[in-house]
Amino acid sequence: MTDTILPDLAGAADPIAIAPAKTTAPRILAVANQKGGVGKTTTAINLGTALAAIGERVLIIDLDPQGNASTGLGIDRKSRHHSTYDVLVNQVKLREAILTTAIPRLHIAPSTLDLSGLELEISTARDRAFRLRNALARLNEARAGDEEYSYVLVDCPPSLNLLTVNAMAAANAILVPLQCEFFALEGLSQLIKTVDQVRATLNPDLTIHGIVLTMYDSRNRLSSQVVADVREFMGRKVYDTIIPRNVRISEAPSYGKPVLIYDLKCVGSEAYLRLATEVIQREKEMRAN
Ligand SMILES: Nc1ncnc2c1ncn2[C@@H]1O[C@H](COP(=O)(O)OP(=O)(O)O)[C@@H](O)[C@H]1O
Ligand SMILES: [Mg+2]
Repeated sequence: MTDTILPDLAGAADPIAIAPAKTTAPRILAVANQKGGVGKTTTAINLGTALAAIGERVLIIDLDPQGNASTGLGIDRKSRHHSTYDVLVNQVKLREAILTTAIPRLHIAPSTLDLSGLELEISTARDRAFRLRNALARLNEARAGDEEYSYVLVDCPPSLNLLTVNAMAAANAILVPLQCEFFALEGLSQLIKTVDQVRATLNPDLTIHGIVLTMYDSRNRLSSQVVADVREFMGRKVYDTIIPRNVRISEAPSYGKPVLIYDLKCVGSEAYLRLATEVIQREKEMRAN
């Protein structure tokens, strides 16, 4: 592994171009892990829905060109008039890209495949790592009081590319879904290294909000071994809530619904509701400190 995991950021930290990180609402959480298929999108959708169900005002930002968060929330491609791509190339304001969903208090800025070309297009721009942070800062300026989001969840692509860096530069904290499988810890050390680099260069206040273990299978001895290992390695950073492997969770996106809407009573929905409560509780503790 090379030393620099980050894309080349020479000249990117132009102070004039950087909006100050907001410490009050909204809380911006980047749902990140460079591995694919670990539950990032599922967590963004369902944690977002659970937070909205509890009364929070939530914005999901789809930063994966695959657009699975958008599809999973029932946003068809035809209605994605403006996407996060348009926002990050500074063609539209973030507010113009935001769509409502079927869930009250849950909005989304959808993505399209254009986003996969973004890195090349803005590679020489001095503010390339801060496009999302700046867009969010302008959104906050424009909104007042009740209108403000209390949580922004950024669904990252499965890579440590410029999109993920934009998410980490904009975020207050990272939320890491970790699949209960053999190589879970291996990817985690690389992710932590990246967070350290972003903290050193782009966003000194960035923290790890927590690690959520996903796709836990109680019939599989390996799953419980992974839980024990990750808890030993990461201690209190690991949320108490574990998301079980649950077929209802995997069925829900094909209906364009979060699992909480698809089947509120299933164990998957219950787990994401518990996670939301825990995230809010952790927020309170972090603010108190
Ligand atoms: N707890 C779970 N139980 C069952 N299937 C899950 C669970 N979490 C995610 N999945 C499924 O696993 C696949 C990968 O999840 P996804 O959230 O898209 O991962 P990522 O965004 O990290 O690539 C999807 O098909 C999703 O429906
Ligand atoms: Mg995804």
